[in-house]
Amino acid sequence: MDLISGPACFPLMLVLIITMFNLSDCYDPLDPTGNISVTYDIVRWTEAGYQARITIQNYYKYRHIEKPGWQLGWTWAANEVIWSMSGAFATQQGNCSAFRSEIPHCCKRSPIIVDFAPEAPPENKLDGCCHGGLLAASAINPSSSFASFEMKVGNLRGNFTVHKPLNLTLMTPGPGYTCDEFMDTDPTTSLVIEGQRHEQVIRTWKSTCTYSTFLANNLPTCCISLSTFYNPEVTPCNLCSCGCKLADNEAKLCIGQRSSGPYVRELIQCTDHMCPLRVHWHIKKNYMNYWRVKLTVSNYNLGKNYSNWNLVVQHPGFSQQTTVFSFNSTMLSTVGVPDEVALFWGLDFYNDALLQAEEKQVGSVTTEILLLKDMNSFTLRNGWAFPRRIYFNGENCRMPLPQSFPMLPNGCSREKPCNSYLSMLLLSIYLTYKTLNF
Ligand SMILES: *[C@@H]1O[C@H](CO)[C@@H](O)[C@H](O)[C@H]1NC(C)=O
Ligand SMILES: *[C@@H]1O[C@H](CO)[C@@H](O)[C@H](O)[C@H]1NC(C)=O
Ligand SMILES: *[C@@H]1O[C@H](CO)[C@@H](O)[C@H](O)[C@H]1NC(C)=O
Ligand SMILES: *[C@@H]1O[C@H](CO)[C@@H](O)[C@H](O)[C@H]1NC(C)=O
Ligand SMILES: *[C@@H]1O[C@H](CO)[C@@H](O)[C@H](O)[C@H]1NC(C)=O
Ligand SMILES: *[C@@H]1O[C@H](CO)[C@@H](O)[C@H](O)[C@H]1NC(C)=O
Repeated sequence: MDLISGPACFPLMLVLIITMFNLSDCYDPLDPTGNISVTYDIVRWTEAGYQARITIQNYYKYRHIEKPGWQLGWTWAANEVIWSMSGAFATQQGNCSAFRSEIPHCCKRSPIIVDFAPEAPPENKLDGCCHGGLLAASAINPSSSFASFEMKVGNLRGNFTVHKPLNLTLMTPGPGYTCDEFMDTDPTTSLVIEGQRHEQVIRTWKSTCTYSTFLANNLPTCCISLSTFYNPEVTPCNLCSCGCKLADNEAKLCIGQRSSGPYVRELIQCTDHMCPLRVHWHIKKNYMNYWRVKLTVSNYNLGKNYSNWNLVVQHPGFSQQTTVFSFNSTMLSTVGVPDEVALFWGLDFYNDALLQAEEKQVGSVTTEILLLKDMNSFTLRNGWAFPRRIYFNGENCRMPLPQSFPMLPNGCSREKPCNSYLSMLLLSIYLTYKTLNF
């Protein structure tokens, strides 16, 4: 095995530094077309108006909506009311005093719709509904990545002129998603009579909602630490990756500055990185034809379980045959990304929940991964064996600086930097960018 140091760290460092930058907030190169689409089908006319079916489809490959779930809102263009609903409900009825004989389900000008829990009474149910607002990531569980509900809309003032609902909002329930206006599209069709006949709805409007970390007001939630069998030093998460501990704070518990909603402050274990989550990548063994990695995710939150967690790892080694022992996994197809990208999530009833931390212990899930070597590219030099990028639940994890990566014995180490001037230059570029970005 070749343990002699290579001459050039810079190209790789540069690549690493560039990939660490979250260049654009909305655009994710690993899931460029990710979105949540909202389809508004007018299914049929009724005595008092029309019946509509609304479908929320999560096309994000590895971003899901967790408890307490989605909330969909809009503003009616012309004083419409919702006579009845199935598969979901409006949180407020509003002022229905103008209606005498029959009372509508919701008279608000801007209704907010939420999902039923799975235990909902059967008369409120609809096929494929009632997941308590959860929308699974589409690459993990496509059959639970959508929700739909139906409603009877009335008060159209008799002449059946329909207006698109305005100002669609998708809350989770915090902010983060922006939806564009409803647009006319081809009517949704469905197959009936064993697929021999297409039926179509009267009219279909569609809107696309996209996520932005900036809008969600999320500070970084996750950081990466690294270690190897060939160097006893562990590269910890960057100091203050997600916030800074108070200088004189000796307490074991801290209030995380970051939050899942704008007003939620979470109790986490105090660490130098102050991240609620840490991903550790340990290069454990180097065999003749394989190499072995131990991947661990730790939860420092004292009051938060991650029930359907997922992890995205970008690493060139995944182009080879890979055996994952204790996580479920799939490869993501990516265009224009130089490395292979793997998506991991927990095994049902085993480690699908990343449990909260206790006062003295973190919650964690872990797996070992065996990767076949591609003899042409495999190397332990220059940090090749470390991941290029990791996301937890779709949020980018902060990578340590390449200068602090574990070095091979007599490699370009901190004592003998490969080129300290260039390293300093890159470091200063990185710091400048970091300051601008956060
Ligand atoms: C939303 O995602 C779907 C599925 O990936 C894609 O076909 C569609 O083009 C996307 N829409 C937008 C506006 O990006
Ligand atoms: C409810 O709406 C009616 C008219 O539709 C109006 O006269 C009444 O003032 C409203 N009540 C409240 C409390 O807003
Ligand atoms: C239908 O009603 C709306 C609202 O009262 C009115 O603006 C529109 O002109 C009507 N359309 C027809 C075809 O009567
Ligand atoms: C929709 O949102 C825009 C921008 O926030 C606002 O100006 C407009 O009044 C809203 N329309 C309705 C019908 O609420
Ligand atoms: C997290 O899960 C554990 C074990 O299932 C449970 O005891 C705990 O109450 C959960 N915590 C929260 C905040 O739901
Ligand atoms: C792996 O994930 C798939 C898709 O969610 C699921 O159908 C399968 O049961 C999972 N396997 C295990 C062992 O959990």
